Amino acid sequence: MGRELVARHLPAIRSEFSPDFLIANSENLTSGKGPVPEHVAFMRDLGFDCLTGGNHVFSHVKDLAAELSDPRSIQIRPANYYEVPGCPIQGKGTRVIEKGGKKVLVIKLMSSTFLKDDVYNPFLKADEILASSATEKFDAVLVDFHRETTAEIYCMAEYLSGRATFVYGTHTHVQTNDEHVLESGTGMIADVGMTGPLHSAIGQKFEGRLPRMVTGVGLFSKKPEPLSEGPGSLHAVLVEIEGGKCLSIEKIRIRD
Ligand SMILES: [Fe+2]
Repeated sequence: MGRELVARHLPAIRSEFSPDFLIANSENLTSGKGPVPEHVAFMRDLGFDCLTGGNHVFSHVKDLAAELSDPRSIQIRPANYYEVPGCPIQGKGTRVIEKGGKKVLVIKLMSSTFLKDDVYNPFLKADEILASSATEKFDAVLVDFHRETTAEIYCMAEYLSGRATFVYGTHTHVQTNDEHVLESGTGMIADVGMTGPLHSAIGQKFEGRLPRMVTGVGLFSKKPEPLSEGPGSLHAVLVEIEGGKCLSIEKIRIRD
């Protein structure tokens, strides 16, 4: 449902706001899991410049390996996965987009708190990435921080204040009402929100989640499946940037 919503509503969003860059989190792009190459291509054909992954980015790693390893791919994964010799972690955690005379750096980070995968410290990884690209001049540095807790995204925005242009959270699916710009010119929002079925277990059918919550026994829940019926909702944020500083953040919310 999410892909269909984006394809259907994007033309109106583009004509109203004329965004210079389009970036999306592709965490559940393929029916509740990380993307397959066909769906990365689907988003690229819609005009997206970068897709950030998350903890599901390797769900279809056999199919996606070539895409992740392609330096031209718009699909990135959390930069702070450990790159251990022999470990089949592929892809990159940053993407530089050059378009219309503007140059933007997108950084994808992930936390380990309440998430299954152990990753390197995201704060120190942000330092390392910014240090290694210090000689390059960017019109904007955008940081997508995939995390469960609200405090972490606030701490990341504070840590990167004056060094990143926009720090935003993904993974918790619900768009938050806290968008603001710090004195340094760094903007933030705790979660940009998801695009998909409105009344659902964050995109899934309730049968896959609710019985376990009621009974306490996982056995009684069905296999989680994405919900593809009923009203949908699209969430996005429009970030206005000038001179490397965030001027404004406007939330976009479309309900079918
Ligand atoms: Fe996630």
